[in-house]
Amino acid sequence: MFSAGVLSLLFLVVAELSLSVSGQGVTYGDVLHNILTGNITNYEDSFGVIEYYSEQPFSATANISIASIDNAEVLNGTIQLYEWATFGQKWGDAVFLNLFMKYNGQANNYLESDDLKRDLIKLADGNDTLFRIWAESSSDEDLSNLYQSLHKGE
Ligand SMILES: *[C@@H]1O[C@H](CO)[C@@H](O)[C@H](O)[C@H]1NC(C)=O
Ligand SMILES: *[C@@H]1O[C@H](CO)[C@@H](O)[C@H](O)[C@H]1NC(C)=O
Ligand SMILES: *[C@@H]1O[C@H](CO)[C@@H](O)[C@H](O)[C@H]1NC(C)=O
Ligand SMILES: *[C@@H]1O[C@H](CO)[C@@H](O)[C@H](O)[C@H]1NC(C)=O
Repeated sequence: MFSAGVLSLLFLVVAELSLSVSGQGVTYGDVLHNILTGNITNYEDSFGVIEYYSEQPFSATANISIASIDNAEVLNGTIQLYEWATFGQKWGDAVFLNLFMKYNGQANNYLESDDLKRDLIKLADGNDTLFRIWAESSSDEDLSNLYQSLHKGE
């Protein structure tokens, strides 16, 4: 598990290295996968009000307004990952990271989460094409498979 300090340091590294994070030991992909599987440590005393808006295609728009009583630093780091994802047109990643922020950045195995599936179905709002686009634009194979499993075919 990451300690809190290591996690925030990684986010800084991720943010500063532009697209060439690989070779630095821990990549954007590693951090994303750790978030997906709940392999992170939540802060216990990190209050902050997070206001963030970023308009993006394919229902990946972020519109976050959260007073987090315990996890603001993780949310701040996640915004950086989200910006990275949208910069790289990884819409599937961005959609997940957006929901992760709405869940207050809680550690959870999201790959097995019915709540996440339900929220993704709600977000797609009957548009099956979105699942395909999210699957194709996810940098994480497990996340891509999750979208694929929700895609009923056209
Ligand atoms: C959890 O994250 C740490 C730090 O990156 C890594 O060393 C470890 O292998 C991860 N554990 C799993 C089960 O992925
Ligand atoms: C479904 O989403 C795609 C991608 O955003 C869009 O191009 C398409 O028009 C949408 N379809 C419907 C029926 O809304
Ligand atoms: C963002 O979310 C707030 C609260 O749900 C809502 O009032 C506002 O209209 C949203 N903004 C946009 C641009 O969708
Ligand atoms: C989150 O980021 C904002 C803007 O960069 C900063 O003002 C705030 O102190 C940060 N909060 C935490 C808890 O890291």
